[in-house]
Amino acid sequence: MKIVFVNGSPRKDGYTARLMECIEEGIDKNHAVEWIHTYDLNMKPCQACLGCRPNQECLLPADAGHDAARLIRAADALVIGSPTYFGNISGPLKTLIDRSLTAFEEIAASGLEMPIPLHRGKKALMVTACNIPAPFSQQLSQSAGTLLAIKTVLDAGGYEIIGRIVLDGAASRKGIPPEIAEESRKLGAQLAQ
Ligand SMILES: Cc1cc2nc3c(=O)[nH]c(=O)nc-3n(C[C@H](O)[C@H](O)[C@H](O)COP(=O)(O)O)c2cc1C
Repeated sequence: MKIVFVNGSPRKDGYTARLMECIEEGIDKNHAVEWIHTYDLNMKPCQACLGCRPNQECLLPADAGHDAARLIRAADALVIGSPTYFGNISGPLKTLIDRSLTAFEEIAASGLEMPIPLHRGKKALMVTACNIPAPFSQQLSQSAGTLLAIKTVLDAGGYEIIGRIVLDGAASRKGIPPEIAEESRKLGAQLAQ
């Protein structure tokens, strides 16, 4: 199984990435894991030309967005993580998602028919970290908004979302609590089953 981790945080040693690493720890080493660090991608934003419909690659000149979209499309399971920024995902993650429209779903050229999800039967996980402590962190203007943004994309792809990891109150923490690390490892193991 090939499992792709899409990291929407600029901080490779930040909470989002470290939670995703805990998930990776739970995955049996027989599986192939690949990371996409969205802040490292040199890519243009989607120009809304809709030339990718019904099921083509993005028509922009080749850049890192094409490679990342191919990885997502070919993956057997997906982990998407983002820090909570103004109750949403980070800009580079959103840029990659928009560039990867046809890595998630097939949309008729007319745009009139219902999109066809391309990943039915595959599993996915969602991860976010935010500074606001619980219970305020669970508002839609906080981590719930980030999770909803990730869920919207995964639902479009038809993935089964088997879990979510949220670390709130990040500013006042001294690391990932052992119970959240353990929960992440367990979800990683389930993802690869
Ligand atoms: C531009 C920006 C916007 C942010 N917006 C929020 C927010 O809406 N709610 C919140 O709780 N924390 C917010 N934060 C704090 C981050 O979510 C927090 O620092 C988180 O730990 C970042 O994840 P990381 O450790 O993976 O970098 C924001 C941080 C930045 C830089």
